[in-house]
Amino acid sequence: MAVDPAKRKRQGAYDTPDTVARPLVDWAIRNRTDSVLDPSFGGCAFLEAAALRLVALGARMPAKNLFGFDTDRRALEPLVRLFAGTPASDRFVVPRDFLSTSPGTADCPLVDAVVGNPPYVRHHLLKGVRRDVARDAALSSGYDLSKKSSYWGYFVLHAVRCLKPGGRLAFVLPVSLLTTDYADTVRAVLFQGFGRTRVIVVDQRLFEGAEERSVVVLADGWSNANEGVSIERARDAQALSAAVSEVPARWNGHALLNDRNAWRRELVAEDASRLMEQVRSDPQVRSLGDIAGVSLGVVTGANDYFVRPSSHMRELKARPRQRHRILSGVRGVEGLVANRKTFEALRRNGEPCELLLLREGDGRTGVRGYLQSKAAGRAKTAYKCKAREPWFVLGPQAPPDAFLTPLSGPYPRLILNGWRLDCTNTLYRVNWKPPMTTTQAQLVALSVVSSLGSLSAELAGRVYAGGALKLEPRDARKVLVVVSDAPAQDVSRCFRQVSKLLSKGDWAQAQSVADELVLRGVLRAGKRLAQQLQEALMALRALRQAK
Ligand SMILES: C[S@@+](CC[C@H](N)C(=O)[O-])C[C@H]1O[C@@H](n2cnc3c(N)ncnc32)[C@H](O)[C@@H]1O
Repeated sequence: MAVDPAKRKRQGAYDTPDTVARPLVDWAIRNRTDSVLDPSFGGCAFLEAAALRLVALGARMPAKNLFGFDTDRRALEPLVRLFAGTPASDRFVVPRDFLSTSPGTADCPLVDAVVGNPPYVRHHLLKGVRRDVARDAALSSGYDLSKKSSYWGYFVLHAVRCLKPGGRLAFVLPVSLLTTDYADTVRAVLFQGFGRTRVIVVDQRLFEGAEERSVVVLADGWSNANEGVSIERARDAQALSAAVSEVPARWNGHALLNDRNAWRRELVAEDASRLMEQVRSDPQVRSLGDIAGVSLGVVTGANDYFVRPSSHMRELKARPRQRHRILSGVRGVEGLVANRKTFEALRRNGEPCELLLLREGDGRTGVRGYLQSKAAGRAKTAYKCKAREPWFVLGPQAPPDAFLTPLSGPYPRLILNGWRLDCTNTLYRVNWKPPMTTTQAQLVALSVVSSLGSLSAELAGRVYAGGALKLEPRDARKVLVVVSDAPAQDVSRCFRQVSKLLSKGDWAQAQSVADELVLRGVLRAGKRLAQQLQEALMALRALRQAK
């Protein structure tokens, strides 16, 4: 059925190619007497394949075994074409909301197999009567379905209620079945309510214009004790067809599901990478490595010894040239810039914020006592110190343009260097390659906060035990940022606002303010794309931090 794209999205109407419907139906129908329901038959792909399958199994009047509903009157057209010449059947009710039916009554009798491709409608597009009917159906099924559930979730729960004990369900569903929290209940029903359940993830998009990849669910033996779950992958429709007719090598799904985060992360990450490719086509989007050098901060080998509070430096009688302002972490650095104020606060709080930068002959200056202390005795045995000659001379370096956090809890941060500070190797030094204006640099820092930068960091980095995200320098170079000559006023206003929000710990709001400028303002990304980036980021971060 030809449908305009916006309407198609609202109705979730994506017609299933015959190459997909057929293997599913062939799997689900095993006997010429099997009764079959497609709860939203639309273009009749499943009903047609079912009729052919029943005939192949010896049925004379296949229409008699088939049932179906659809809310779209136009679904009548292919139906009439398909069953012309056979007795008109009151088992195909159009228009009728499947979720308003009462399974197990004359309204909707129990069947041997439910097949189909239910409508994919996201929860925010589910409105009015349609949503109320769906919620009532979920309530009367006794399952606790999240309000965030897409329409297809309600269909699965209602569909299983239409099955005879031992019945089968063959559905095409979006990959969110495996990747979202709102599908928890649906997964539980599919993975525990049937004897055996297979989910085949199809890598290639089956439906033109659909936002998500599809999975095929083959659930066998409704109400039987569960013996196994298998999660598999198929490259495309052809590979899917071959996979359906094979018996899975291993019923390993439960193990995979227990390690669900790894599995979900893989799938979400693949989809997110596709989004990234789309965004990267804009020439304003660059990788951090294109525009900056990223390297380790100062490696002292013994930070406790070399990085000291200012008060200690005074006690040691260190000369001004021996005292080098340094950050040894992000404690006390709350926004997007580290400046004099930041440093003064660190100093007042007695934080170690000065590096003892000595030259070869400095063993004769005021610090000589410290160089002969017990602390020095310990420090010089450190691996990196032993490798230096003399052990206390650190090579001087020019302060970097900015710092990047290599290890992030919720998010990575690029902090501009506003007062010629240096950093230890707990931070990365970032030095711009081509000259950068202040506005450009601020926009780069905002990009890292935005969903674009943060999502690319999630994809580039690796997850450490405890859920932290670690960026090695080579990973950090892959973080995507925006370099543009955006209006200085807009950028600096946003920069101040985001810095303030970060200082207050309001990361979510900071990100949405950064997104508004970076994605919507500079990159002119549509609302949908921005939302997809945010959702992918949230999903990956939640998976990373899940215990
Ligand atoms: C994804 S299409 C699938 C159509 C067909 N099963 C196929 O695979 O080609 C979903 C169909 O669901 C229908 N639909 C949407 N909401 C429905 C509802 N509440 N009850 C029955 N059908 C519905 C739409 O009209 C559309 O034809």
